[in-house]
Amino acid sequence: MTLVRSKIIGCGSYLPENILTNDDLAARMDTSDEWIQKRTGIRQRHIAADDEKTSDLAVNAARDALDHAGLEAGDIDLIVVATTTPDETFPATATTVQRKLDIGAGFAFDVQAVCAGFVYGLAVADSMLKTGHGKRALVIGAETFTRILDWEDRGTAVLFGDGAGAVILEAYDAEGAPEDRGVLSTHLHSDGTEHDILYVDGGPSGTGTVGHVRMAGKEVYKHAVTKLSAVVDEALAANDLSAADVDWLVPHQANRRIIDAMGDRLKLDPSKVVVTVDRHANTSAASIPLALCEAVRDGRIKQGDLVLMEGIGGGLAWGAALVRF
Ligand code: ACO
Repeated sequence: MTLVRSKIIGCGSYLPENILTNDDLAARMDTSDEWIQKRTGIRQRHIAADDEKTSDLAVNAARDALDHAGLEAGDIDLIVVATTTPDETFPATATTVQRKLDIGAGFAFDVQAVCAGFVYGLAVADSMLKTGHGKRALVIGAETFTRILDWEDRGTAVLFGDGAGAVILEAYDAEGAPEDRGVLSTHLHSDGTEHDILYVDGGPSGTGTVGHVRMAGKEVYKHAVTKLSAVVDEALAANDLSAADVDWLVPHQANRRIIDAMGDRLKLDPSKVVVTVDRHANTSAASIPLALCEAVRDGRIKQGDLVLMEGIGGGLAWGAALVRF
């Protein structure tokens, strides 16, 4: 019997050059660095240039991940792009990424689960590799999220940024392998009845416009802490593990207060929680792979470490993944 498992063999990231600080925002709307930092922990965010599309950010992160893994684009069978801000209504941004990487084989598609998108994409790619749909997958979270912000709404405009992160998953036979490496389990949930607390008021079949983010922040905050706590417990229990086994928490980077609440709940030393929200703000589906890649590439996350990822966003959609590096 073979036990196919997928493991992360490379990761990459890309952040647009242009940085917008809280003070820059305060110069154009009624807000302040103090308010933003106190409520969210955000100091600045990256903003895509006018001629940069989500696929461009994704391709840059993908190339970085390929370099890190020592692979060529042609080694990839499957591309999953998690995004809320696709280049076009169709085709999938993933097939545009495929074209830009000059890959003419395999298959590519998008996953839409907003801020939970990377965990959803990881779960889908992991399942496909386990069931023989290829050997290697690029899983990318990429967003030009600032393009769907209402810059007149200070309650949401200050929270988000643009960026992309990517991982490469490779299937291997874990039967008899010396270490239990790879994606141990993924856990996905959604509750469509909570649509109204976080959505975009546009779309091709709704209004025919792209629309803007609408959010009831306090409601989202409450759901975030309770639902993420439950899914993290679920992930640990499914693997007979406890919070004490977790080496690194790589949470979705929405808000420092939500991140701290999760770290506290797991009784993790703050140095074991990867935080980028201060520099990146909330990059939706890109936030987890951006944070993960930073900690892998700077040597914090090492082979053998147990990494817990979790995220929640519009839908509501949320999930968690446990990965042994
Ligand atoms: N600058 C200054 N004042 C502001 C700003 C701003 N950018 N935005 C809102 N305010 C004001 C409000 O108008 C309000 O003023 P009032 O008391 O005179 O009416 C006051 O600040 C308090 O507003 P609240 O919305 O109640 O502020 P709250 O303390 O809830 O903080 C926040 C808002 C940061 C959005 C918080 O609710 C939150 O973190 N929610 C989680 C939402 C989130 O992270 N969403 C991201 C997408 S989903 C996800 O990724 C998990």
